[in-house]
This record gives sequence, structure tokens and C-alpha cells, in this order.
Amino acid sequence: MYSSFTIARKYVQYWLTASNRKGHGVHSPFVYDFIKHVLNDSSGHPFYKEIEQLRKNLLKNKSIITVEDFGAGSTIIPTSKRRVDAIAKSSLKSKKYAQLLYRIASYFKTDFILELGTSLGITTSYLANSSNSVKVKTMEGSEVIATIARENFSSLKLNNIEVMVGDFNKTLPQYLTENPIIQLAFIDGNHRKEPTIHYFNQIIQHINESTIIIFDDIHWSAEMESAWEEIKNHPSVTLSIDLFFIGLVFFKKDFKVKQHFSIQF
Ligand SMILES: C[S@@+](CC[C@H](N)C(=O)[O-])C[C@H]1O[C@@H](n2cnc3c(N)ncnc32)[C@H](O)[C@@H]1O
Repeated sequence: MYSSFTIARKYVQYWLTASNRKGHGVHSPFVYDFIKHVLNDSSGHPFYKEIEQLRKNLLKNKSIITVEDFGAGSTIIPTSKRRVDAIAKSSLKSKKYAQLLYRIASYFKTDFILELGTSLGITTSYLANSSNSVKVKTMEGSEVIATIARENFSSLKLNNIEVMVGDFNKTLPQYLTENPIIQLAFIDGNHRKEPTIHYFNQIIQHINESTIIIFDDIHWSAEMESAWEEIKNHPSVTLSIDLFFIGLVFFKKDFKVKQHFSIQF
């Protein structure tokens, strides 16, 4: 992982070179509409408050749980004691990005969403609100964390989410055999190059022209930056959007020339 200083320097560099959110100089109508209707949409929704209240409660929850630590690898699973408030502070997407993920899912009208990395289920809850018909499958390695996430979904009265517990190396292939086409996938766990590329390579066997894959923390480390470079340059990717803390890839064939955008967010 880069030091906070390096991340700050990279962020400044990104901000100075990225397109602004007025869409000036963005010559893709698709990306222009994405900026206008998704990035710049500041409408509020009643469920935003409920989920953020739940986040606040988790940030005050001092319970200590024993979690299987999947972050650093996927075969050897040491356990560690963690406080729920510490997980809520360090592992969850911020309100700004979780709400953006909701808007992406809602704008592209995705009926099925796959999330790798449930944690306490905050982002999952946003995704599960993206339409009346959406179904979310979310994967988490730690049984104890998954149990808390399930309780959170019940408290928000969300019954369109299913949690698959286990190493992504097992749950992802299992999910893909049962779900031939991926509409939207959010990859937010195990932020290392080799596993990230491995998940990408599996998912792209199950894409169509409307598929969107979103990667978290693409500038978090040299490994993740290298994974992001490889992914955006993959022949099947026709458009990529770098928002610094997340990166999106699209596969539409009518984008004749591959394009990469970096947009201030
Ligand atoms: C960054 S958190 C997810 C945060 C969540 N998406 C949110 O924004 O609210 C990543 C989660 O992925 C899980 N994880 C990491 N590597 C994994 C693996 N190889 N298999 C299963 N789960 C894994 C961790 O246990 C952790 O809870």
C-alpha cells in the first residue's frame, strides 16, 4: 500500500489532469451523459438517511469480533480480533462513493449486481435500493462479518440481498456457473494484483455489451495501479473511467476506438 503522502500526491496529480465535471472536452456522448446524470446528480433519497444512520451506529459499536483475515491472501486464513467500529471506519466505502455506486446501478438499470467484499453491508445496502426489481449477490469471506451484514440488511428491511460466505476463489466460480451474464460487478476485496486480475479474467467470460465492472482502490498501491493498467488495456474493454478511488470499465462494441477518461469526482 502506498503511504498517505504518496496517495495525496497522486490524488493532486489526478485532479490536475482529469476532465472537470462540466464535461468540457469530453467528446464521448456516453461519457458526457454519465457525467451529467450520474456524477453530477445530487438528489437525495430517504433511504440515504437510514443507511447513513446505520453507518453511524456501526461507528459507535465497540464490540470485539474474531474475523478470518482474507485481505492479505486467500488460502491461509489467520483470525484476528477486530472492533466493529474499526471495521466501519477503515473498510467501508464513504457515503460519497457508496451513493455514487447506487446512482450507477440505478442509471444503468441493472437487475442483478455482484459485489465482491460485503464487509458490514453498507455499500451493498445502497446497491440493493437501486431499483424495485434489483437482486444483489454479495460475497464475504468472514462468517462473523457476514452475520453482522445480514442483521444490517434485516434492520433496513432489505430482502433482495444474498450473502455468499467463503473465499472468492470458491464463491466466484460457483456464482458464475449459475449466472451466465454479469450486468454489474463491484470488486471491493483482496486488493492485490494477481487476485484482482484473476477475478477480472473469470468475470469477462460472462459479460455482454452492457456489462460494467467497477474496481475499488485502483490507486491504492503499485500492484493495484498495475492491475488497473492491465484491465483497462484488455482488448475486450472499450471504455474506462478513472475516478481515482474507483475505476469503471465498459465493453460496448459501438465505441469504435478504445477510450480512457479520468474525471474529477
Ligand atoms: C473493503 S471491504 C468491503 C467493503 C464494502 N464493499 C463496503 O463498501 O461497504 C472488503 C471485504 O472483503 C473481504 N475479503 C477480502 N478478501 C477476500 C477473499 N479472498 N474472499 C472472501 N472475502 C474477502 C474482507 O473480509 C472484507 O470484509
